[in-house]
Amino acid sequence: MEFNAPAGENLFDHGRVTGKGISRIDGPLKVTGRAPYAYERHDVVGDQLSGYPVLATVPQGRITAIDTAAALAAPGVLGIVTALEVGEMPHPFEQNVAPLFGGDRVHHYHQAIAVVVAEEFEQARTAAALVRVDYDAQTGAYDLDAVWQQKKGDHADPVARQGDFDAAFAQAAVTLDQEYRTPGHSHAMMEPHASIAAWQDGKVTVWTSNQMIAWNRQSLAKTLGLDQDDVRIESPFIGGGFGGKLFLRADAVLAALAARKLERPVKVALPRAAIMNNTTHRSATIQQLRIGADRDGRMTAISHEAISHSQPGGSGENAVDQTRWFYAAPNRLIVNHVAEMRLPEANAMRAPGEASGLMALEVAMDEMALKLGMDPVEFRALNDTQVSPEDPEIPFSDRNFRRCLHEGAKAFGWTNPAPRSQREGAWLIGQGMAGAYRGSPVLTSGARVRLLPDARLLVETDMTDIGTGSYTIIAQTAAETMGLPLEAVEVRLGDSDFPVSAGSGGQFGAASATAGVYAACLALQKRIAEVLQAGDAPLRFSDAQVHVGGRDIPLAELGELSAEDKITFGEFRDKQHIVSTFGAHFVEVAVHRLTGQIRLRRMLAVCDAGRILNPVTARSQLIGGMVMGVGAALMEEIAIDTDKGFFPNHDLASYEVPVHLDIPEQQVIFLDTADPVSTPLKAKGVGELGLCGVAAAIANAVHNASGVRIRDFPVTADKLL
Ligand code: MOS
Repeated sequence: MEFNAPAGENLFDHGRVTGKGISRIDGPLKVTGRAPYAYERHDVVGDQLSGYPVLATVPQGRITAIDTAAALAAPGVLGIVTALEVGEMPHPFEQNVAPLFGGDRVHHYHQAIAVVVAEEFEQARTAAALVRVDYDAQTGAYDLDAVWQQKKGDHADPVARQGDFDAAFAQAAVTLDQEYRTPGHSHAMMEPHASIAAWQDGKVTVWTSNQMIAWNRQSLAKTLGLDQDDVRIESPFIGGGFGGKLFLRADAVLAALAARKLERPVKVALPRAAIMNNTTHRSATIQQLRIGADRDGRMTAISHEAISHSQPGGSGENAVDQTRWFYAAPNRLIVNHVAEMRLPEANAMRAPGEASGLMALEVAMDEMALKLGMDPVEFRALNDTQVSPEDPEIPFSDRNFRRCLHEGAKAFGWTNPAPRSQREGAWLIGQGMAGAYRGSPVLTSGARVRLLPDARLLVETDMTDIGTGSYTIIAQTAAETMGLPLEAVEVRLGDSDFPVSAGSGGQFGAASATAGVYAACLALQKRIAEVLQAGDAPLRFSDAQVHVGGRDIPLAELGELSAEDKITFGEFRDKQHIVSTFGAHFVEVAVHRLTGQIRLRRMLAVCDAGRILNPVTARSQLIGGMVMGVGAALMEEIAIDTDKGFFPNHDLASYEVPVHLDIPEQQVIFLDTADPVSTPLKAKGVGELGLCGVAAAIANAVHNASGVRIRDFPVTADKLL
């Protein structure tokens, strides 16, 4: 079905199962260790060999020789596949910027260049260290600051320009002009990338850990020169992705090539120390914010100019995008530069763009409020807008940012104290807040539903569950639509044999995939109407029965029926509206006045994200995002060796992420909104919103506590002293 306008009547009979806080139905499988993750598929494929990757140790250049003799002679080793023997392979997918494997060119440090296969993992790992590689290495430039100094102020090709920023900024009564820096971030998901590949009759099956099944299948087929029909991808459980598993990665390519050569199933996991440089990461950014306002706080001019790095051909981190949509100001200038560098590939990480962009914009807004002598809550509320700041003809579909600000301030007990005015013994206490903005895109999403003779319903879609709760909200959607109890619905996900869904990414997964399942259920209802020869009589589904023309017919009596459909979204949604999610974050911190140690004391998020399909799983998304925001604020940082062109802190000891002790009480409030333009279920994404703005709120709270303004993330104790 095409969703092209809000339904006049509430087609989706919401509230019996959807909207209920149901614990995830796959929870018992996970906590008992029975959920089948990619590296552990002994249930479906036996006789597995272990492959261990060999990774380039130069940032760029050519491989002149790979000597495998010593490795091949090592105990247990059965074979080695090298990039030189395979040769250059077709590029997997337009959004994978750097090639994953094959040929003699090294595009970045830790690019995969061989895989050693042995009976046992330890044998493969030991032998991999014996592979000798000679390079014709090249040096390159890896200093983002240096490129920023050259490109900054070049406004020849802006992302957007309205009015006359320069004139308005020059005339503004109160102005701010500051630079902010955000470091690179690693997805640091719990489960490293892993795949098992097995061939039969020229067809390959890959059990892997991937967010986007159809992309993965298409990419692997292209890379291996196969027809898509000869590639099967299965990824029913994923131990975290955050964007790092949107695309095909080297583990699947190496496993497939090794399994083909050795004629046995081969499994390859990327070692933790390979994740940082071999896979993707969020680029570092440097951002300049300039804001002008009149004395009463109304913004007259805003400019956001940023730079990030990318492999040649990529787009880096779009840190300026939210600034186009968040606050009104008639004179606007938005500029985004990309510095091409052969650092490992920068690509999407949770809330790509906004996560970094709001770290600068929302600190700048705090600084402006202080200059104006305004409460930062009221400064933001004053500059809120219900239409596109770039085009007043285009409204937001449903925007309740002011409610987020005011309900948050009330729930938090916001008093806007002066900086460095609160003290408890050796601790300086501070409160900070920030706004949150994240787009809410959707993608076409399909599903197949099958009514079984015992009135059970089977739902099949290649949608993934990356820890988000997809299984549960899809079951709730199907149960609601078909009038069945939740227990009667079985959901199967993550298999390329199932209809193509939106997949998980960009916080489009839940909204898109539930709408696709709803469309498939409507198709099944039509099929049932045909079977019952109901004509135009309306059907109603409840209590495992269909009610039509005064008859109550148990679904169990209908026999086996199946239907398939997908949801598509017309112009009405994205061309005539801006569909986005909004939030406000409030935090309290304590800063030790002698050591600079920072402790979080409490966090509150108020979210405007349309209808909440399941407040338990949605809350988990929010608090998970908030934890990631604590990491971005206080500790996470990919270090760049600007001489050698790689990231030296490539493990979880030197790339720090928050642990339980770092996280205080977290409170989440969802506004009771429903977005009629978003999807038939009126739902929007929450998976990325929870991260947006958090780091700025913390930096603002640290300033409020200590009086020290840090514009260079992460905010660490040494910078406060
Ligand atoms: Mo998300 S960064 O699109 O998985």
